Amino acid sequence: MTVDLNGVRLRNRLLTSSSLLGYGAGKGRLILYGLSPIAQWVPLERFGAVVTRTLTTEPREGNFSLREDWKLWEFPAMLRAYGRALRRVDGGWINAFGWSNIGIERYFDEYYERTAKLNRIISLGGFSADEFGSLVEIVNRRAKVGEIAAVEFNVSCHNVNFPFETILEEVLAKAVPLSRHPVILKLSPDYDYLEHARLAERHGVAALTAINSVKALRLDPETGEPLLKNRYGSLSGRAIKPIGLRIVSELREAGIGLPIIASAGIHDFDDCREFFWAGADAVSLGSAVWLKRMPLYALGPIEGLRIRRLIGRVERYQLPARVATPEADLVGAVDR
Ligand SMILES: Cc1cc2nc3c(=O)[nH]c(=O)nc-3n(C[C@H](O)[C@H](O)[C@H](O)COP(=O)(O)O)c2cc1C
Repeated sequence: MTVDLNGVRLRNRLLTSSSLLGYGAGKGRLILYGLSPIAQWVPLERFGAVVTRTLTTEPREGNFSLREDWKLWEFPAMLRAYGRALRRVDGGWINAFGWSNIGIERYFDEYYERTAKLNRIISLGGFSADEFGSLVEIVNRRAKVGEIAAVEFNVSCHNVNFPFETILEEVLAKAVPLSRHPVILKLSPDYDYLEHARLAERHGVAALTAINSVKALRLDPETGEPLLKNRYGSLSGRAIKPIGLRIVSELREAGIGLPIIASAGIHDFDDCREFFWAGADAVSLGSAVWLKRMPLYALGPIEGLRIRRLIGRVERYQLPARVATPEADLVGAVDR
């Protein structure tokens, strides 16, 4: 089975969200660093597509670290650093890794061949139209047409403290026509997402991902110190599911016709069905599935079984006709 979303070819309608599975493979056969430990219990090639962590032109430490050679006795220090970039909060997670990544060329050198069995979407992040242009040119050079499903532009991340809305249109105007691969635009709930979706339509973007995590803050109640090194972070998981549903629905009500990949707190089959009813064409598993309290990773094999069954159920699912709303006539979009 394949699903064609306006040129973005997926194996089915269930994806995994950017970064939760790192670059799509562990560093070595036994080193899962950067990849949710749950991932080893699921054949990742069964997903509609796996979206990489956001990659930049140069390697970036961000608010964490690029070290991969932590010794056992350094683990407490590593976990402390990790805890300043990712924290469990009520109903979800707050993170600010700040695009900590090995850079696009090293991704192609070290992970691209090894993840050839997966249907991949490569997430790209930059601070100018020129940077996005360079990233697209590197992907054009290193990934043959048809080898990846798409590139996803992350022009909506709060953890790098940059006003992306000031460059979005220039990025789309410059980098979308350059790309030999379909382009997906990831929308932020904190920006004018309806306007950004309209810009995406105008500039030849193939599909939208909705939503990126929500800008958030947590402080230590004793001291007032922020929990995260970056002070602000991004909220993901169950807490943001209703926000994601609202935004998918609002995009449809506004008459946005591009395919939408939903990403917001999705955990089980009912979540997927809810997003399909709201107007999504595909759904993506993020922190509600791949991040757990440490001891719960021990239940990985059971969770792996559940995820495999979920993939099967989404594969067999018939998308509903879109529900008509007073604002927009969405009937007739049955064959989306
Ligand atoms: C630890 C962590 C790291 C993330 N890194 C990225 C990233 O590099 N690029 C990106 O586009 N989104 C990133 N995201 C956002 C997710 O891809 C996803 O869109 C968001 O978490 C909402 O989905 P969820 O509620 O299902 O987790 C990250 C999320 C988490 C929790």
